[in-house]
Amino acid sequence: MSTPKKPYYITTPIYYVNAKPHIGTAYTTIAADTLARFMRLDGRDVKFLTGTDEHGQKVEQAALKQGVTPQKFVNDISQEFQKLNDLFEFTNDAFIKTTDAHHKKSAQALWMKLVENDQIYKSTYKGWYSVRDEQFYNEDEIVDGKAPNGTEVTWVEEPSYFFKLSKWADKLLELYENNPDFVAPQSRLNEIKSFVKGGLNDLCISRSSFKWGIPVPNDPDHVMYVWVDALPNYISNLGFPDENAEDFKRFWPEAIHILGKDIIRFHGVYWPALLMAAGLPLPKRLFAHGWWTNEGQKISKSLGNTIDPFEIVDEFGTDEVRYFLLSSVSFGRDADFSKDTLKTKVNADLANDLGNLVQRVLSFAHKHADGQIPLPGELTNTDKALLKKAAEMPAQVREHANVQALHKMCEAIWTIVGDANRYMDKEEPWALRKTDTKRMKTVLYVLADVIRHVAIVAQAIVPKAATKILDQLAIPEDQRDITSLDSPLQGGVDIPKPEGVFPRIT
Ligand code: MSP
Repeated sequence: MSTPKKPYYITTPIYYVNAKPHIGTAYTTIAADTLARFMRLDGRDVKFLTGTDEHGQKVEQAALKQGVTPQKFVNDISQEFQKLNDLFEFTNDAFIKTTDAHHKKSAQALWMKLVENDQIYKSTYKGWYSVRDEQFYNEDEIVDGKAPNGTEVTWVEEPSYFFKLSKWADKLLELYENNPDFVAPQSRLNEIKSFVKGGLNDLCISRSSFKWGIPVPNDPDHVMYVWVDALPNYISNLGFPDENAEDFKRFWPEAIHILGKDIIRFHGVYWPALLMAAGLPLPKRLFAHGWWTNEGQKISKSLGNTIDPFEIVDEFGTDEVRYFLLSSVSFGRDADFSKDTLKTKVNADLANDLGNLVQRVLSFAHKHADGQIPLPGELTNTDKALLKKAAEMPAQVREHANVQALHKMCEAIWTIVGDANRYMDKEEPWALRKTDTKRMKTVLYVLADVIRHVAIVAQAIVPKAATKILDQLAIPEDQRDITSLDSPLQGGVDIPKPEGVFPRIT
């Protein structure tokens, strides 16, 4: 009997539908999709969740501004996110909407657990609120009449329910102490540690001055605070409130949340506190990535410099955008988006390094090796060294994937691409064609096998091009996962006439 596949659960934040997708929201999903694809290639049983966050004051105000009902408004914008998913062919196996009936039930069940555990009380909220951040701010956080990040705040005074967050400070600090890998990168862990050490107030978790939200159980005058409605999406998708649901038991302890640095407090402080207070298990890890600026400027609707992912893909292609976003910054840090840097990076790494390698090898084999991946002769030490490096690469990529080091995943693959190009230049199969065709065939075989390694693993990063390369190498579809690399490449197999995989961007 084969051993059961190890579960892996990866999530993106669910996106607010007050505005269309932009490059930042596409980035988070690209990162999660890359990890999901890699883990599937690596034999894991993967669940990958994304979706839309559809309640709250921000969305209600956006709908009112357009003169449509919130429900109609959210349906339209949520579709834009689904279109983006289709465009990139993201491999999420579910798309959750917080207006889904099963999610509402799940969020209310979490609330009831908190009530049963005496974690909620009713009082009055008096303080600042930023609709844009959907966040409450203390008086001492306000700088020149604004939130610390510069967003507008309004004074709110309304009856509210509160979660006894203040009681959970010690447990949270214990959690960070005992599981230093719970939050990454380290800088974000430090950030939330010092936030918790600074003292926690109880958290206002309901609103009563508008209606667009999940009703608080047994009190129809209140809707749940949008974050308390949104965070449980990660468990609604696994069958919660049924704690015996197969998916909940199997996948929840393996959960990895990918999110942006701006929402680390919600995921790293409020979410684990809510789960502990409800007596539920915690996810395994959170990874907070950095923010993209546009040509050096903060991206904002008011500056009118948002980057439309549909336009960028139209201009450059999905694999190109994925590769650029993943490889050009150490995952976790901020980075700057510019079309020029994208072009330079894509031309260098995709068109020149990988694209040319594949084109050179396969068109040469097609023309001068009977249109086949040839059978190899005896291997030299140089051949063996290169094949060994290629064979070791998937394990290195796995190590990086395990800690969400997406840029290092790219680096490990592209190092082999560079090695293969240097090997080809040194071995000169075009010269061998005249002097030693047997050796020429061996060199081509070695190169084809290295390309197979690269393309199999690169399916996680540049899925469309990697698939084309594997088609051109005539690798059967059931031999495109990482364990297939345990078997040698089969020689003596016909290959189709090769076509370029990465056109140069001019
Ligand atoms: N709805 C909440 C998340 C709830 S999860 C239970 C939310 N939504 S959002 O649409 O505003 O943002 C979603 C993600 O996009 C966040 O992870 C955020 O960091 C990311 N980004 C938004 N702008 C970004 C950049 N300019 N660069 C990189 N990521 C950015 O927050």
